[in-house]
Amino acid sequence: MNSFDIKSHKAIVTGGTQGLGRGMAEALLEAGAEVALFDISNRVLAVAEEYRNKGLACHGVVVDLADVDKRQAAFDQALKLFAGKLDILVNAAGIQRRHASEDFPLDEWNEVLNVNLTVTFAMCQLAGRVMLAQGHGKIVNIASLLSFFGGFTVPAYAASKGGVMQLTKALVNEWAGRGVNINAIAPRYMATDMNTALAASRWRLFGALGAKPTGDVGRRKT
Ligand SMILES: NC(=O)c1ccc[n+]([C@@H]2O[C@H](COP(=O)([O-])OP(=O)(O)OC[C@H]3O[C@@H](n4cnc5c(N)ncnc54)[C@H](O)[C@@H]3O)[C@@H](O)[C@H]2O)c1
Repeated sequence: MNSFDIKSHKAIVTGGTQGLGRGMAEALLEAGAEVALFDISNRVLAVAEEYRNKGLACHGVVVDLADVDKRQAAFDQALKLFAGKLDILVNAAGIQRRHASEDFPLDEWNEVLNVNLTVTFAMCQLAGRVMLAQGHGKIVNIASLLSFFGGFTVPAYAASKGGVMQLTKALVNEWAGRGVNINAIAPRYMATDMNTALAASRWRLFGALGAKPTGDVGRRKT
């Protein structure tokens, strides 16, 4: 018996177009799951088609998860595709904004907290209702090294990822005994688009040593 065989399992992966979300989605697809990729980027449709062309059961859903109504509609669409069943949720959609803390614009603070933390909670809530009713389900949230450390020029991101870690503990306390298994993973720096600006800035890498800012400390280009 292959204990990694998850054929017939239904999964939603947010942020599944690229980076870590795509990597995790691909692993689920290759293990036999049917996966709905949720992403704000239209590229999600081509990515899903690419997997379907390989014989894997993948759906692409274009959605801005920060929008309450669109988020609900996307979730309903996936649940319809899955005939009301949901086994796995991976919350990998996330954003980064970088400014020195004293200049960090509040609208960007709110944007980061919304996408990284509030959306994660809202998706857990939508999935959790289905999973609790089924009596089983698995949720993986993506925290970060910055759930533990403050970083440089990323106060909103660090706060949001600290929140993801605490949120995960809170949900575990309420749902683990009812069949819903929830974990957060905390990756270190990974070479994805999110870190392009980081890699270019000596100050963010060496700020603790007292170096002056020399590189780009603005938002990443997307
Ligand atoms: N890259 C790292 O070093 C690292 C380290 C720790 C944690 N993480 C976390 O892992 C997750 C994935 O990061 P990544 O490096 O792959 O980033 P990425 O930028 O490569 O991918 C993020 C994905 O989320 C999508 N997304 C962003 N906002 C969205 C929205 N409003 N609605 C729907 N989709 C949206 C993007 O379109 C993109 O496809 C994030 O939560 C990130 O915080 C990354």
